[in-house]
Amino acid sequence: MTDAVVPVKAFEGSWEHTFVTGGVAALAGLMFGLDIGVISGALQFIGDTFHTSDVAKEWIVSSMMFGAAAGALGAGVLSFRLGRKVSLIIGAVLFVVSSLLCAAAWSTESLIVFRVILGVAIGIATFTAPLYISEIAPADKRGAMISSYQLMITVGILAAFLSDTLFSYIGAWRWMLGIVAVPGALFLIGVIQLPSSPRWLMMRGRKDEARAVLKSLRGDPKLVNKEMLDIEEQLKRPQRGWSFFRANPNFRRSVGLGIALQMMQQFTGMNVVMYYAPRIFADVGFKGHEALWGTALVGLVNVLSTFVAIALVDKVGRRPVLLVGFAVMAIGLGALGVLLHIGTTDIEMQIYAVTMLLVFIIGFAVSAGPLIWVLCSEVQPIEGRDFGMAISTFTNWASNFVVGLTFLTMLNGLGSGATFGIYAALNALFLLVTFFYIPETKDISLEAIEVNLMAGKPLRHIGD
Ligand code: BGC
Repeated sequence: MTDAVVPVKAFEGSWEHTFVTGGVAALAGLMFGLDIGVISGALQFIGDTFHTSDVAKEWIVSSMMFGAAAGALGAGVLSFRLGRKVSLIIGAVLFVVSSLLCAAAWSTESLIVFRVILGVAIGIATFTAPLYISEIAPADKRGAMISSYQLMITVGILAAFLSDTLFSYIGAWRWMLGIVAVPGALFLIGVIQLPSSPRWLMMRGRKDEARAVLKSLRGDPKLVNKEMLDIEEQLKRPQRGWSFFRANPNFRRSVGLGIALQMMQQFTGMNVVMYYAPRIFADVGFKGHEALWGTALVGLVNVLSTFVAIALVDKVGRRPVLLVGFAVMAIGLGALGVLLHIGTTDIEMQIYAVTMLLVFIIGFAVSAGPLIWVLCSEVQPIEGRDFGMAISTFTNWASNFVVGLTFLTMLNGLGSGATFGIYAALNALFLLVTFFYIPETKDISLEAIEVNLMAGKPLRHIGD
Protein backbone atom coordinates (compact mmCIF):
# COMPACT_ATOMS: atom_id res chain seq x y z
CA MET A 1 0.00 0.00 0.00
CA THR A 2 1.37 3.45 -0.85
CA ASP A 3 0.47 6.75 0.66
CA ALA A 4 -0.90 8.39 -2.50
CA VAL A 5 -1.69 12.08 -2.71
CA VAL A 6 -5.34 12.85 -3.29
CA PRO A 7 -5.83 16.59 -2.81
CA VAL A 8 -9.30 17.65 -1.74
CA LYS A 9 -10.69 19.96 -4.41
CA ALA A 10 -13.12 22.07 -2.38
CA PHE A 11 -11.67 25.34 -1.00
CA GLU A 12 -8.29 24.42 -2.51
CA GLY A 13 -5.43 26.72 -1.59
CA SER A 14 -7.23 28.46 1.25
CA TRP A 15 -7.15 28.05 5.00
CA GLU A 16 -10.68 26.62 4.74
CA HIS A 17 -9.14 23.77 2.79
CA THR A 18 -6.62 23.17 5.56
CA PHE A 19 -9.46 23.25 8.03
CA VAL A 20 -11.60 20.75 6.11
CA THR A 21 -8.61 18.44 5.78
CA GLY A 22 -7.83 18.70 9.48
CA GLY A 23 -11.53 18.24 10.22
CA VAL A 24 -11.57 14.83 8.58
CA ALA A 25 -8.54 13.77 10.61
CA ALA A 26 -10.28 15.17 13.69
CA LEU A 27 -13.08 12.69 13.09
CA ALA A 28 -10.62 10.24 14.64
CA GLY A 29 -11.53 12.11 17.81
CA LEU A 30 -15.16 11.16 17.28
CA MET A 31 -14.20 7.47 17.29
CA PHE A 32 -12.16 8.05 20.46
CA GLY A 33 -15.11 9.74 22.17
CA LEU A 34 -17.68 7.17 21.10
CA ASP A 35 -15.57 4.46 22.67
CA ILE A 36 -14.96 6.34 25.90
CA GLY A 37 -18.69 7.00 26.26
CA VAL A 38 -20.29 3.84 24.95
CA ILE A 39 -19.43 1.18 27.51
CA SER A 40 -20.86 2.57 30.76
CA GLY A 41 -24.45 2.38 29.50
CA ALA A 42 -24.02 -1.02 27.87
CA LEU A 43 -22.33 -2.79 30.76
CA GLN A 44 -25.37 -3.61 32.82
CA PHE A 45 -27.16 -5.26 29.88
CA ILE A 46 -24.05 -7.18 28.82
CA GLY A 47 -23.84 -8.46 32.39
CA ASP A 48 -27.45 -9.64 32.20
CA THR A 49 -26.85 -11.53 28.95
CA PHE A 50 -23.58 -13.27 29.85
CA HIS A 51 -23.96 -13.39 33.67
CA THR A 52 -20.70 -11.47 33.88
CA SER A 53 -18.90 -11.09 37.22
CA ASP A 54 -17.79 -7.65 38.42
CA VAL A 55 -14.15 -8.48 37.80
CA ALA A 56 -14.95 -9.57 34.25
CA LYS A 57 -16.92 -6.34 33.80
CA GLU A 58 -13.85 -4.38 34.81
CA TRP A 59 -11.96 -6.23 32.13
CA ILE A 60 -14.62 -5.51 29.54
CA VAL A 61 -14.21 -1.80 30.32
CA SER A 62 -10.44 -1.70 30.58
CA SER A 63 -9.54 -4.09 27.75
CA MET A 64 -10.19 -1.26 25.29
CA MET A 65 -7.71 1.05 27.05
CA PHE A 66 -5.19 -1.78 27.17
CA GLY A 67 -5.49 -2.26 23.39
CA ALA A 68 -5.30 1.49 22.86
CA ALA A 69 -2.05 1.75 24.80
CA ALA A 70 -0.56 -1.02 22.64
CA GLY A 71 -1.96 0.53 19.44
CA ALA A 72 -0.47 3.91 20.29
CA LEU A 73 2.97 2.35 20.66
CA GLY A 74 2.72 0.38 17.41
CA ALA A 75 1.37 3.40 15.58
CA GLY A 76 4.73 5.13 15.91
CA VAL A 77 6.36 2.55 13.64
CA LEU A 78 3.32 2.33 11.38
CA SER A 79 3.01 6.03 10.73
CA PHE A 80 6.72 6.32 10.05
CA ARG A 81 6.92 3.36 7.65
CA LEU A 82 3.57 3.63 5.87
CA GLY A 83 2.70 7.24 6.52
CA ARG A 84 0.12 9.07 8.58
CA LYS A 85 -2.67 8.65 6.07
CA VAL A 86 -2.29 4.89 5.67
CA SER A 87 -2.12 4.54 9.48
CA LEU A 88 -5.41 6.39 9.76
CA ILE A 89 -6.95 4.11 7.13
CA ILE A 90 -5.75 0.99 8.98
CA GLY A 91 -7.15 2.41 12.23
CA ALA A 92 -10.51 3.12 10.57
CA VAL A 93 -10.81 -0.36 9.03
CA LEU A 94 -9.96 -2.05 12.35
CA PHE A 95 -12.45 0.22 14.08
CA VAL A 96 -15.37 -0.70 11.81
CA VAL A 97 -14.62 -4.43 11.89
CA SER A 98 -14.06 -4.67 15.64
CA SER A 99 -17.15 -2.60 16.50
CA LEU A 100 -19.27 -5.06 14.53
CA LEU A 101 -17.51 -8.00 16.20
CA CYS A 102 -18.18 -6.49 19.64
CA ALA A 103 -21.86 -6.22 18.75
CA ALA A 104 -21.84 -9.88 17.71
CA ALA A 105 -19.86 -11.17 20.74
CA TRP A 106 -21.06 -14.55 22.00
CA SER A 107 -19.36 -14.54 25.42
CA THR A 108 -17.62 -12.28 27.90
CA GLU A 109 -14.24 -13.59 26.70
CA SER A 110 -14.94 -12.93 23.04
CA LEU A 111 -16.13 -9.42 23.87
CA ILE A 112 -12.92 -8.74 25.80
CA VAL A 113 -10.81 -9.89 22.83
CA PHE A 114 -12.78 -7.76 20.36
CA ARG A 115 -12.51 -4.74 22.64
CA VAL A 116 -8.74 -5.14 22.73
CA ILE A 117 -8.77 -4.96 18.90
CA LEU A 118 -11.10 -1.97 19.05
CA GLY A 119 -8.64 -0.39 21.43
CA VAL A 120 -5.77 -1.00 19.02
CA ALA A 121 -7.77 0.87 16.35
CA ILE A 122 -8.39 3.76 18.72
CA GLY A 123 -4.76 3.80 19.81
CA ILE A 124 -3.58 4.08 16.21
CA ALA A 125 -6.10 6.82 15.40
CA THR A 126 -5.46 8.83 18.55
CA PHE A 127 -1.74 8.77 17.95
CA THR A 128 -1.85 9.56 14.26
CA ALA A 129 -4.60 12.17 14.00
CA PRO A 130 -3.00 14.90 16.17
CA LEU A 131 0.37 14.20 14.54
CA TYR A 132 -1.14 14.56 11.07
CA ILE A 133 -3.09 17.69 12.02
CA SER A 134 -0.01 19.37 13.48
CA GLU A 135 1.89 18.63 10.27
CA ILE A 136 -0.64 20.17 7.91
CA ALA A 137 -1.73 23.13 10.08
CA PRO A 138 -0.26 26.62 9.67
CA ALA A 139 1.32 27.85 12.96
CA ASP A 140 -1.39 30.42 13.77
CA LYS A 141 -4.26 27.90 13.39
CA ARG A 142 -2.52 24.90 14.91
CA GLY A 143 -3.99 25.22 18.41
CA ALA A 144 -7.52 25.72 17.16
CA MET A 145 -7.25 22.80 14.75
CA ILE A 146 -6.03 20.37 17.36
CA SER A 147 -8.71 21.67 19.70
CA SER A 148 -11.28 20.80 17.07
CA TYR A 149 -9.98 17.25 17.41
CA GLN A 150 -10.82 17.46 21.11
CA LEU A 151 -14.24 18.87 20.18
CA MET A 152 -14.89 15.71 18.19
CA ILE A 153 -13.88 13.59 21.21
CA THR A 154 -16.47 15.37 23.33
CA VAL A 155 -19.13 15.11 20.60
CA GLY A 156 -18.40 11.37 20.43
CA ILE A 157 -18.80 11.00 24.19
CA LEU A 158 -22.09 12.92 24.17
CA ALA A 159 -23.39 10.93 21.18
CA ALA A 160 -22.54 7.67 22.97
CA PHE A 161 -24.22 8.82 26.21
CA LEU A 162 -27.38 9.76 24.30
CA SER A 163 -27.45 6.66 22.12
CA ASP A 164 -26.91 4.45 25.20
CA THR A 165 -29.74 6.21 26.99
CA LEU A 166 -32.12 5.66 24.06
CA PHE A 167 -31.16 2.03 23.45
CA SER A 168 -31.37 1.37 27.19
CA TYR A 169 -35.17 1.53 27.01
CA ILE A 170 -35.09 -1.72 25.03
CA GLY A 171 -31.89 -3.05 26.66
CA ALA A 172 -30.21 -3.33 23.23
CA TRP A 173 -26.52 -3.42 24.13
CA ARG A 174 -25.55 -4.97 20.78
CA TRP A 175 -26.96 -1.92 19.04
CA MET A 176 -25.12 0.37 21.45
CA LEU A 177 -21.79 -1.26 20.58
CA GLY A 178 -22.49 -1.84 16.87
CA ILE A 179 -23.97 1.51 15.85
CA VAL A 180 -20.54 3.17 16.13
CA ALA A 181 -19.49 1.27 12.98
CA VAL A 182 -21.61 3.79 11.00
CA PRO A 183 -19.55 6.90 11.91
CA GLY A 184 -16.52 4.59 11.63
CA ALA A 185 -17.35 3.87 7.98
CA LEU A 186 -17.82 7.60 7.29
CA PHE A 187 -14.44 8.25 8.87
CA LEU A 188 -12.88 5.62 6.62
CA ILE A 189 -14.36 7.27 3.52
CA GLY A 190 -13.09 10.64 4.76
CA VAL A 191 -9.51 9.59 5.43
CA ILE A 192 -9.22 7.93 2.03
CA GLN A 193 -9.74 11.42 0.57
CA LEU A 194 -7.00 13.05 2.66
CA PRO A 195 -3.72 14.28 1.21
CA SER A 196 -0.56 12.82 2.71
CA SER A 197 1.33 14.79 5.32
CA PRO A 198 3.82 17.01 3.46
CA ARG A 199 6.42 16.46 6.17
CA TRP A 200 6.13 12.72 5.86
CA LEU A 201 6.41 12.92 2.06
CA MET A 202 9.57 14.97 2.43
CA MET A 203 10.96 12.43 4.88
CA ARG A 204 10.43 9.83 2.19
CA GLY A 205 12.13 11.99 -0.43
CA ARG A 206 8.88 12.61 -2.34
CA LYS A 207 9.50 16.32 -2.74
CA ASP A 208 7.21 17.05 -5.70
CA GLU A 209 4.26 15.44 -4.02
CA ALA A 210 5.00 17.33 -0.80
CA ARG A 211 5.06 20.60 -2.77
CA ALA A 212 1.75 19.74 -4.44
CA VAL A 213 0.10 19.05 -1.08
CA LEU A 214 1.47 22.22 0.48
CA LYS A 215 0.32 24.22 -2.52
CA SER A 216 -3.19 22.84 -2.13
CA LEU A 217 -3.11 23.63 1.60
CA ARG A 218 -1.47 27.07 1.62
CA GLY A 219 -2.14 28.53 -1.83
CA ASP A 220 0.46 31.29 -1.61
CA PRO A 221 3.65 30.07 -3.41
CA LYS A 222 5.83 32.16 -1.08
CA LEU A 223 4.47 30.36 1.97
CA VAL A 224 4.91 27.04 0.22
CA ASN A 225 8.56 27.76 -0.60
CA LYS A 226 9.29 28.92 2.92
CA GLU A 227 7.71 25.84 4.46
CA MET A 228 9.50 23.51 2.02
CA LEU A 229 12.82 25.06 2.99
CA ASP A 230 12.01 24.78 6.71
CA ILE A 231 11.08 21.13 6.43
CA GLU A 232 14.11 20.38 4.25
CA GLU A 233 16.38 21.96 6.80
CA GLN A 234 14.96 19.76 9.54
CA LEU A 235 15.13 16.59 7.52
CA LYS A 236 18.86 16.87 7.17
CA ARG A 237 18.66 14.90 10.39
CA PRO A 238 16.69 11.66 9.85
CA GLN A 239 13.78 10.52 12.05
CA ARG A 240 15.01 8.33 14.94
CA GLY A 241 13.36 6.95 18.03
CA TRP A 242 14.95 4.92 20.78
CA SER A 243 18.56 5.59 19.70
CA PHE A 244 17.85 9.33 19.67
CA PHE A 245 16.23 9.03 23.10
CA ARG A 246 19.30 7.30 24.49
CA ALA A 247 21.73 9.71 22.91
CA ASN A 248 20.09 13.10 23.35
CA PRO A 249 19.27 14.51 26.79
CA ASN A 250 17.21 17.34 25.28
CA PHE A 251 14.98 14.83 23.55
CA ARG A 252 14.62 12.96 26.84
CA ARG A 253 13.35 16.24 28.31
CA SER A 254 10.63 16.65 25.68
CA VAL A 255 9.59 12.99 25.99
CA GLY A 256 9.41 13.47 29.77
CA LEU A 257 7.32 16.59 29.22
CA GLY A 258 4.89 14.65 27.01
CA ILE A 259 4.58 11.91 29.66
CA ALA A 260 3.99 14.45 32.42
CA LEU A 261 1.40 16.35 30.39
CA GLN A 262 -0.65 13.25 29.66
CA MET A 263 -0.46 12.00 33.24
CA MET A 264 -1.65 15.41 34.38
CA GLN A 265 -4.58 15.28 31.97
CA GLN A 266 -5.72 11.84 33.11
CA PHE A 267 -5.15 12.37 36.83
CA THR A 268 -7.41 15.44 36.81
CA GLY A 269 -10.04 12.72 37.28
CA MET A 270 -11.98 13.54 34.11
CA ASN A 271 -12.52 9.94 33.08
CA VAL A 272 -13.75 9.03 36.52
CA VAL A 273 -16.70 11.23 35.62
CA MET A 274 -16.89 9.86 32.06
CA TYR A 275 -17.04 6.21 33.17
CA TYR A 276 -18.90 6.54 36.45
CA ALA A 277 -21.10 9.65 36.13
CA PRO A 278 -24.34 7.72 36.80
CA ARG A 279 -22.79 6.38 40.00
CA ILE A 280 -21.68 9.88 41.08
CA PHE A 281 -25.18 11.25 40.41
CA ALA A 282 -26.60 8.42 42.49
CA ASP A 283 -24.23 9.32 45.36
CA VAL A 284 -25.45 12.92 45.16
CA GLY A 285 -29.05 11.73 45.33
CA PHE A 286 -30.26 11.49 41.72
CA LYS A 287 -31.11 7.94 40.72
CA GLY A 288 -32.51 6.04 37.67
CA HIS A 289 -33.46 8.17 34.70
CA GLU A 290 -32.40 11.35 36.50
CA ALA A 291 -28.87 9.97 36.71
CA LEU A 292 -28.85 9.10 33.00
CA TRP A 293 -30.05 12.53 31.93
CA GLY A 294 -27.59 14.08 34.37
CA THR A 295 -24.87 12.11 32.58
CA ALA A 296 -26.08 13.46 29.24
CA LEU A 297 -25.93 16.98 30.71
CA VAL A 298 -22.31 16.36 31.68
CA GLY A 299 -21.64 15.31 28.07
CA LEU A 300 -23.35 18.42 26.71
CA VAL A 301 -21.46 20.82 28.99
CA ASN A 302 -18.24 19.07 27.95
CA VAL A 303 -19.00 19.77 24.26
CA LEU A 304 -20.11 23.37 24.74
CA SER A 305 -17.10 24.31 26.87
CA THR A 306 -14.75 22.93 24.24
CA PHE A 307 -15.97 25.68 21.87
CA VAL A 308 -14.67 28.20 24.39
CA ALA A 309 -11.30 26.44 24.30
CA ILE A 310 -11.14 26.69 20.51
CA ALA A 311 -11.81 30.42 20.69
CA LEU A 312 -9.17 30.98 23.38
CA VAL A 313 -6.26 28.71 22.54
CA ASP A 314 -4.51 30.69 19.78
CA LYS A 315 -5.44 34.07 21.27
CA VAL A 316 -4.87 33.85 25.01
CA GLY A 317 -2.29 31.07 24.78
CA ARG A 318 -1.77 27.69 26.41
CA ARG A 319 -0.36 28.59 29.82
CA PRO A 320 -2.95 31.06 31.16
CA VAL A 321 -5.80 28.78 30.09
CA LEU A 322 -4.18 25.74 31.73
CA LEU A 323 -3.44 27.62 34.95
CA VAL A 324 -7.02 28.84 35.28
CA GLY A 325 -8.33 25.40 34.25
CA PHE A 326 -6.43 23.49 36.95
CA ALA A 327 -7.56 26.05 39.56
CA VAL A 328 -11.19 25.70 38.49
CA MET A 329 -10.96 21.90 38.51
CA ALA A 330 -9.39 21.87 41.99
CA ILE A 331 -12.16 24.12 43.31
CA GLY A 332 -14.96 22.16 41.60
CA LEU A 333 -13.81 18.74 42.83
CA GLY A 334 -12.81 20.06 46.25
CA ALA A 335 -16.27 21.53 46.79
CA LEU A 336 -17.93 18.36 45.48
CA GLY A 337 -15.84 16.29 47.89
CA VAL A 338 -16.83 18.47 50.85
CA LEU A 339 -20.51 18.31 49.91
CA LEU A 340 -20.46 14.53 49.50
CA HIS A 341 -18.65 14.24 52.80
CA ILE A 342 -21.30 16.29 54.63
CA GLY A 343 -24.08 14.50 52.75
CA THR A 344 -26.38 16.09 50.17
CA THR A 345 -29.64 15.69 52.00
CA ASP A 346 -31.83 18.40 50.46
CA ILE A 347 -32.43 19.39 46.86
CA GLU A 348 -30.55 22.67 47.25
CA MET A 349 -27.37 20.84 48.26
CA GLN A 350 -27.88 18.30 45.52
CA ILE A 351 -28.09 21.05 42.92
CA TYR A 352 -25.03 22.70 44.41
CA ALA A 353 -23.12 19.41 44.15
CA VAL A 354 -24.13 18.90 40.52
CA THR A 355 -23.12 22.49 39.78
CA MET A 356 -19.67 21.82 41.25
CA LEU A 357 -19.36 18.69 39.11
CA LEU A 358 -20.22 20.79 36.05
CA VAL A 359 -17.72 23.47 37.11
CA PHE A 360 -15.08 20.74 37.08
CA ILE A 361 -16.17 19.57 33.61
CA ILE A 362 -16.00 23.16 32.29
CA GLY A 363 -12.54 23.58 33.81
CA PHE A 364 -11.30 20.42 32.07
CA ALA A 365 -12.97 21.02 28.72
CA VAL A 366 -11.66 24.57 28.41
CA SER A 367 -8.10 23.68 29.43
CA ALA A 368 -6.49 20.28 29.93
CA GLY A 369 -8.85 18.46 27.54
CA PRO A 370 -7.69 20.13 24.34
CA LEU A 371 -4.46 21.81 25.47
CA ILE A 372 -2.61 18.69 26.52
CA TRP A 373 -3.08 17.25 23.04
CA VAL A 374 -2.04 20.57 21.52
CA LEU A 375 1.13 20.78 23.61
CA CYS A 376 2.06 17.12 23.13
CA SER A 377 1.95 17.54 19.38
CA GLU A 378 4.08 20.67 19.52
CA VAL A 379 7.00 19.95 21.81
CA GLN A 380 8.70 16.97 20.14
CA PRO A 381 11.64 17.59 17.79
CA ILE A 382 11.09 16.28 14.26
CA GLU A 383 13.80 13.61 14.55
CA GLY A 384 11.91 12.03 17.42
CA ARG A 385 8.38 13.28 16.85
CA ASP A 386 6.83 9.89 16.08
CA PHE A 387 8.57 8.27 19.02
CA GLY A 388 7.77 11.13 21.41
CA MET A 389 4.11 11.23 20.47
CA ALA A 390 3.78 7.45 20.64
CA ILE A 391 5.12 7.57 24.20
CA SER A 392 2.84 10.43 25.26
CA THR A 393 -0.26 8.85 23.68
CA PHE A 394 0.67 5.56 25.33
CA THR A 395 0.89 7.40 28.65
CA ASN A 396 -2.57 8.87 28.06
CA TRP A 397 -4.10 5.40 27.71
CA ALA A 398 -2.02 3.74 30.43
CA SER A 399 -3.01 6.48 32.92
CA ASN A 400 -6.61 6.26 31.73
CA PHE A 401 -6.44 2.52 32.48
CA VAL A 402 -5.16 3.15 36.01
CA VAL A 403 -7.76 5.84 36.74
CA GLY A 404 -10.60 3.64 35.49
CA LEU A 405 -9.40 0.64 37.44
CA THR A 406 -8.90 2.35 40.80
CA PHE A 407 -11.89 4.65 41.16
CA LEU A 408 -14.42 2.20 42.57
CA THR A 409 -11.85 0.76 44.94
CA MET A 410 -11.01 4.26 46.16
CA LEU A 411 -14.67 5.09 46.52
CA ASN A 412 -15.39 1.94 48.52
CA GLY A 413 -12.25 2.19 50.62
CA LEU A 414 -11.97 5.93 51.29
CA GLY A 415 -15.47 7.27 50.71
CA SER A 416 -16.50 9.79 48.05
CA GLY A 417 -15.43 12.85 50.06
CA ALA A 418 -11.80 11.75 50.40
CA THR A 419 -11.67 10.36 46.85
CA PHE A 420 -12.67 13.66 45.28
CA GLY A 421 -10.48 15.48 47.81
CA ILE A 422 -7.45 13.55 46.50
CA TYR A 423 -8.29 14.44 42.90
CA ALA A 424 -8.76 18.09 43.92
CA ALA A 425 -5.31 18.07 45.54
CA LEU A 426 -3.79 16.55 42.38
CA ASN A 427 -5.28 19.38 40.32
CA ALA A 428 -3.77 21.92 42.70
CA LEU A 429 -0.40 20.18 42.27
CA PHE A 430 -0.75 20.33 38.46
CA LEU A 431 -1.35 24.07 38.73
CA LEU A 432 2.12 24.39 40.27
CA VAL A 433 3.72 22.06 37.74
CA THR A 434 2.22 24.14 34.93
CA PHE A 435 3.45 27.35 36.50
CA PHE A 436 7.05 26.15 36.74
CA TYR A 437 7.54 23.78 33.82
CA ILE A 438 4.99 24.06 31.04
CA PRO A 439 5.99 26.21 28.03
CA GLU A 440 3.86 28.72 26.12
CA THR A 441 3.75 27.61 22.48
CA LYS A 442 1.26 30.08 21.01
CA ASP A 443 2.24 31.64 17.65
CA ILE A 444 5.61 29.96 17.38
CA SER A 445 6.56 27.51 14.64
CA LEU A 446 7.38 23.90 15.50
CA GLU A 447 10.83 24.54 14.05
CA ALA A 448 11.53 27.38 16.50
CA ILE A 449 10.34 25.30 19.47
CA GLU A 450 12.80 22.61 18.41
CA VAL A 451 15.70 25.04 18.14
CA ASN A 452 15.03 26.24 21.71
CA LEU A 453 14.67 22.73 23.08
CA MET A 454 17.91 21.57 21.49
CA ALA A 455 19.74 24.68 22.69
CA GLY A 456 19.02 23.43 26.21
CA LYS A 457 16.62 26.22 27.22
CA PRO A 458 14.53 25.33 30.30
CA LEU A 459 11.27 23.58 29.28
CA ARG A 460 9.26 26.50 30.57
CA HIS A 461 10.94 28.72 27.93
CA ILE A 462 11.15 26.54 24.80
CA GLY A 463 8.27 28.47 23.27
CA ASP A 464 9.70 31.95 23.88
C1 BGC B 1 -9.00 12.82 27.09
C2 BGC B 1 -9.94 11.69 27.31
C3 BGC B 1 -11.21 12.21 27.92
C4 BGC B 1 -11.80 13.31 27.08
C5 BGC B 1 -12.99 13.94 27.74
C6 BGC B 1 -9.65 13.83 26.21
O1 BGC B 1 -8.78 14.87 25.94
O2 BGC B 1 -7.78 12.37 26.53
O3 BGC B 1 -9.34 10.73 28.13
O4 BGC B 1 -12.15 11.19 28.04
O5 BGC B 1 -10.83 14.30 26.81
O6 BGC B 1 -13.57 14.96 26.98
